[in-house]
Amino acid sequence: MLQRSDRANAISASPTLAIDAKTKALMASGVDIVNLSVGEPDFPTPERASLAAIAAITGNFTKYTAVGGIVELRRGIAEKLWKDNQLQYDPEEIIVSAGAKQSLYNIFMMILNPGDEVVLPSPYWVSYPEQIKLCGGVPILVRTDESTGFKITPERLREAFSAKTKAVLINSPGNPTGAVYTPDEIRALAGVIEEYPVYVVSDEIYEQLIYGVEHYSIARYSDTLRARSFVVNGFSKTHAMTGWRVGYVAGPRDLVGTMASFQSHTTANPSSISQKAALAALGTFDIHTRDEFRKRRDFVLAQIEQWPGLSCPRPDGAFYIFPNAGSLVGSFLRRQDGRRDRIDSVDHLCELLLSEAHVSVVPGTGFGAPDNFRISYATSMTNLQTAMQRISSFLARLE
Ligand SMILES: Cc1ncc(COP(=O)(O)O)c(C=O)c1O
Repeated sequence: MLQRSDRANAISASPTLAIDAKTKALMASGVDIVNLSVGEPDFPTPERASLAAIAAITGNFTKYTAVGGIVELRRGIAEKLWKDNQLQYDPEEIIVSAGAKQSLYNIFMMILNPGDEVVLPSPYWVSYPEQIKLCGGVPILVRTDESTGFKITPERLREAFSAKTKAVLINSPGNPTGAVYTPDEIRALAGVIEEYPVYVVSDEIYEQLIYGVEHYSIARYSDTLRARSFVVNGFSKTHAMTGWRVGYVAGPRDLVGTMASFQSHTTANPSSISQKAALAALGTFDIHTRDEFRKRRDFVLAQIEQWPGLSCPRPDGAFYIFPNAGSLVGSFLRRQDGRRDRIDSVDHLCELLLSEAHVSVVPGTGFGAPDNFRISYATSMTNLQTAMQRISSFLARLE
């Protein structure tokens, strides 16, 4: 019998997909679900981006472009990196791809040999370990929890290094925790990383979604570190453009060039139309978006603080809250007919929240944190109010 590849066998299906499929099935059958599982802003794409895309289509800007993106866009990104992050990059040190997801995959493909280790703080965004493994690497998880605000310390980082360490991944603001490292915390980690011959992959895609704190790119720390860093960013979260698929990485010139060669054999250029839209969107981040997200975060957090058994530190960025619900495992849900369901795990709790309370949240298992679940507040205040009421009534039925 024909065997599929070992690589195919090694891919884990995302545990978030199960709840996603159930959510969609329930919604399709007419059940009124409040969906707090989405990882994208509910705001529309900036109008000028949409208009630029339409102009690209009508102007027949619909052919292959330079593999790593049109030079105007790379120049615009270089200006953004200078203005927002005080990072100086030439357009030749930037490559644009079909979303930051592809940027990350390009990086891992270019830096990892079989057995190379990547230090990965956990909880982590679901695709990091899968991409690292697909590229032959080994994710070395460094556990964090509520007690350190879901942030690694320089000591824990140092312990994770071995002779096989090839890279360290930093994601601030982070998905799923919303944790943001302060400039001092980044500098302390950078000081340790500088002592080892390793790359840094800094995923800064939630950079603008930050509430009352400052974003600091690790590549700013020193020339030594900048020369080994990959700064990943994109238009999905900041500009509400998830479907357009535009992300980018700024990094060492030779590796950026090699990534372009790799990309030339896989997907080639990102959509010409999306590139024009991204160019028009550059620099248009609306400050009101931040205020709105902050208001929603404060509202949801205030609710969670009132719920017995749930705890989480205040997330300073992204649009996620990641409460720990481990203490609810072992309790019973009282049903209308008097039956009682034992809650076996937080995954199970999330299933019951969906089927009984009609609120969809993402279990933490896929993020490496089986005692937590992720709430996305990238939805309207009305939806959040309904969801919080439903979760409160659900929790009142636990005994
Ligand atoms: C932390 C993080 N990095 C990267 C991405 C990928 O974003 P995109 O491929 O849409 O640019 C996401 C999307 O959810 C994310 O949460």
